[in-house]
Amino acid sequence: MVEIYDHWWLKGENGDQEMEENHYLAWQNVIHLMDKKDIEKKKILDFGCNQGGFLRQLYDHIPYKNAYGIDLAKEAIEIAKQRAKMYPITYAVGSNPAVFDCLFDTVISTSVLYLIEDLPEHFRLIGHVLREGGVYYTSFSDQTKNPSATFMKEKIDRYGATKMQIKSLNEVVDGLVAQGFSVELIKEQQQPVYEVTSYKEFYLSVDDYLFSCDHSYLIKARKGGRK
Ligand SMILES: C[S@@+](CC[C@H](N)C(=O)[O-])C[C@H]1O[C@@H](n2cnc3c(N)ncnc32)[C@H](O)[C@@H]1O
Repeated sequence: MVEIYDHWWLKGENGDQEMEENHYLAWQNVIHLMDKKDIEKKKILDFGCNQGGFLRQLYDHIPYKNAYGIDLAKEAIEIAKQRAKMYPITYAVGSNPAVFDCLFDTVISTSVLYLIEDLPEHFRLIGHVLREGGVYYTSFSDQTKNPSATFMKEKIDRYGATKMQIKSLNEVVDGLVAQGFSVELIKEQQQPVYEVTSYKEFYLSVDDYLFSCDHSYLIKARKGGRK
């Protein structure tokens, strides 16, 4: 049984709003790394969409046909609905995208996979709502060998409504392949510049922050069509 809650990030006055503002540049990067052909005129799902900022930002850069967002945080979804007025986006509270009763061309999740405990079940759910040949883009950083992993987990578990899972890139890739996806890894950090000012928020050292950047990928998993 999955639990519904009001907000995901419970730090500060308005944690989900602060998270949205902090994620703007990372979303910009993800939008830049995705293939336009997977977005233009397509039906998109944002899994773990929170207040819906990513889908609005995506539409402003690459207009899609229509999009759907789902999240366990019901107040965040309420805000997403209010802000979606001029956009072709539908939102729902929950964790099973089958509620939308349609197949998607492209599914995206940003900063969500590290919270999923049962990866095989998650990939099965996504595979179920993705059309044959459709793509799942999911951002992921392998923290299994990062000396700051426990520090980071303590912080996320303290303020997040769901707990951090420390999974390896192998577990993620093997889980996707087992569900019939073919998988490519796109390096998230492509610029030779690292913004390190706020490293202490989640890391014990600058080195650990850099380690995380260097092990961060936008995973591109295509349903079927294994070459
Ligand atoms: C770190 S936040 C990221 C939100 C947004 N994708 C972003 O990039 O800013 C993780 C989000 O995933 C949602 N989430 C976690 N597990 C989920 C699940 N099983 N089903 C749906 N949403 C989930 C949380 O409620 C939260 O809003």
